[in-house]
Amino acid sequence: MNPVIVIIGAGGIGVAIARRQGFGKTILLADFSETVLSAAADELRTASYSVETQIVDVSSRPSVEALVQKADSLGSVLQVVNAAGLSPNMAPPERVLAVDLYGSALVFEAFGEVIAAGGAGLIISSMAGHMLPPLTSEQNQALAFTPADELLDLSFLRDAVPDSMVAYMMAKRANHLRVQAEAIRWGERGARVNSISPGIVATPLAQHELNSPIGDGYRAMIAASPAKRMAPPEEIAVAAAYLLGPDAGFVTGSDLLIDGGVIAAMFADRLQTPGQQAA
Ligand SMILES: NC(=O)c1ccc[n+]([C@@H]2O[C@H](COP(=O)([O-])OP(=O)(O)OC[C@H]3O[C@@H](n4cnc5c(N)ncnc54)[C@H](O)[C@@H]3O)[C@@H](O)[C@H]2O)c1
Repeated sequence: MNPVIVIIGAGGIGVAIARRQGFGKTILLADFSETVLSAAADELRTASYSVETQIVDVSSRPSVEALVQKADSLGSVLQVVNAAGLSPNMAPPERVLAVDLYGSALVFEAFGEVIAAGGAGLIISSMAGHMLPPLTSEQNQALAFTPADELLDLSFLRDAVPDSMVAYMMAKRANHLRVQAEAIRWGERGARVNSISPGIVATPLAQHELNSPIGDGYRAMIAASPAKRMAPPEEIAVAAAYLLGPDAGFVTGSDLLIDGGVIAAMFADRLQTPGQQAA
């Protein structure tokens, strides 16, 4: 029986990782959107991948637990990639926190019960997680270790997130912290867990932001960055292959920033940091 790779989020980055990582495995592809899911699954099957699908809402515990059950029924769950997410412009702050913060914590918590020895997990975070000003050590600890179902009750999340941009940055910072905490728990099963923090990647999500009122801010980031371009999703998939595979056996609890140097440009004062406005 082939090992299982679970890819949650059948958008630009998720599908690129499925293509790079899915041969010789059963791909369990999951997404909130039936239309996106069936189009992505058809594309992968046409390219001869072995694909199972399931609708999932990462912000719903029963839905995530049903996905875990399905994955477990298909074989040994070797890799879990969470590439589902909402950008700041797609939803109000509560929904961004529910999907990008709570949902990511829930996925790690639930799949941490079935991940195979030698397995690996990956969350697609964001460079936005590096833009937020430093949090207190109490806030860091709370975001890392609070049980998933209690996270959204933390007072600094409930009362001090003024808009979707801050919600997004907070969620993506929380992903980095969560990965550190889960590295310990997943490590007890002989598995690893890491995050990737992409800069601007040419996917439907980035297109949505580029066409929105904050599109000029995105274009300014590209112009000020050393790379001066966006990344194709395949560039993220190459890094994912490293983090998920045996060459990264010593890498766990880590975040890999792949942003063409946007954060470096902010550090050098070549760009305003959204976190400065938010602070
Ligand atoms: N594209 C970029 O520039 C960029 C940059 C940094 C970080 N990211 C992050 O990468 C991840 C993947 O983004 P992408 O660019 O591939 O976007 P995308 O929009 O192509 O794919 C995201 C997918 O997540 C799904 N989704 C949304 N809410 C969901 C939910 N509640 N449950 C399950 N699925 C849900 C959507 O239906 C969509 O198919 C996101 O977390 C995003 O924040 C993207």
